[in-house]
Amino acid sequence: MKILVTGGAGFIGSHTIVELHEAGMEPVIVDNLVNADREVLHRLEKITGKETVFYEADIRDREKMEEIFSREKPDAVIHFAGLKAVGESVAKPWEYYENNISGTLILLDVMKKHDCKKLIFSSSATVYGDPAFVPITEDCPKGVCTNPYGWTKSMLEQVLTDIQKADETWSIVILRYFNPIGAHKSGLIGENPNGIPNNLMPYITQVAVGKLKELHVFGNDYDTPDGTGVRDYIHVVDLAKGHVSALRKIEEGNGLFIYNLGTGVGYSVLDIVRNFEEATGKTIPYVIDPRRPGDIAACYASPEKAKKELSWEAKYGIRDMCADAWNWQSSNPNGYR
Ligand code: NAD
Ligand code: UFG
Repeated sequence: MKILVTGGAGFIGSHTIVELHEAGMEPVIVDNLVNADREVLHRLEKITGKETVFYEADIRDREKMEEIFSREKPDAVIHFAGLKAVGESVAKPWEYYENNISGTLILLDVMKKHDCKKLIFSSSATVYGDPAFVPITEDCPKGVCTNPYGWTKSMLEQVLTDIQKADETWSIVILRYFNPIGAHKSGLIGENPNGIPNNLMPYITQVAVGKLKELHVFGNDYDTPDGTGVRDYIHVVDLAKGHVSALRKIEEGNGLFIYNLGTGVGYSVLDIVRNFEEATGKTIPYVIDPRRPGDIAACYASPEKAKKELSWEAKYGIRDMCADAWNWQSSNPNGYR
């Protein structure tokens, strides 16, 4: 099966490329490198022993996308490409709607023209807003997003639902990721944020490596066991494997299917600090700051539907996630450079 992977040079995309090769599939990457480094391609070759076909292209470039589809004739698409920084999306909403929504609309149109109607879409737990209940099942109503990034995911889910309803020959899987962290065991690929990280784990690893002084814990007065925010952290390799399982589902028949990809276990910010320290032997100094606007108290998945229908479940525990994130950061203190 040939799989066109938009955003395949990014954090989750690169880990998925490894799993696709491992599953005997043939991935082709399309990425404009706005948030990725070409070096990832060499690293992927080192890990897999295979060269991955790569197009440096923007999914909004219809002509180029037509060319790629004509040449490659993919059987299915995994669509990771998009901008994802929550804070930046508040400052630059137009850029986020344009890139994520226009980009996806063009991709869908090109797919339809080339009769490629199998799609896996990267969505996010952010579509649940402040969730009506935890653990969150897929029936939990979608909520009010607190930023334009979240709205792009929520709106695109609706677009995909409507397109599949209008033309039942589409087979679409929407995957709602919880909080992906960790890195490939080799330490050759990992998360490579630009500037000061917004997310917890890359911030912690940069404190551990000495690039940042201390962790700022955003609020310790939430209604959670220790007052700090609780999230469902999932190893990026488990998440990547979830895409291979979703491809098998897509092969079974047409329809629109939605799955949470999480572990079902919630950890607080302080749990993560403790587990990181125990897994790595590094000390993480921290201070308590006020809550970050838009954050919620607790968010963790019920992973049961994915387990039942995709035969997929997360295998790695929190210690592995911490150790692997540290292995990547400590072997690549400046990312891919
Ligand atoms: P990432 O930024 O590492 O990867 C996205 C990739 O898309 C990058 O390589 C970037 O260069 C590329 N890209 C962006 N716009 C493009 C365009 N117009 N044309 C071609 N390529 C483009 O992000 P990630 O963490 O790997 O996330 C992958 C997907 O999963 C994104 O859609 C993201 O919104 C979603 N997601 C991520 C998380 C998370 O916490 N990392 C959580 C939920 C959902
Ligand atoms: N946190 C800190 N200090 C930091 C960074 C984060 O205390 O420096 C806390 C947050 O307040 C939160 C937890 O750590 O309680 C996790 O925060 P992240 O920023 O790592 O992740 P979020 O849950 O806020 O959001 C992430 C992605 C979103 C995605 C969402 C659900 O950034 O894009 O997970 O998948 F939508």
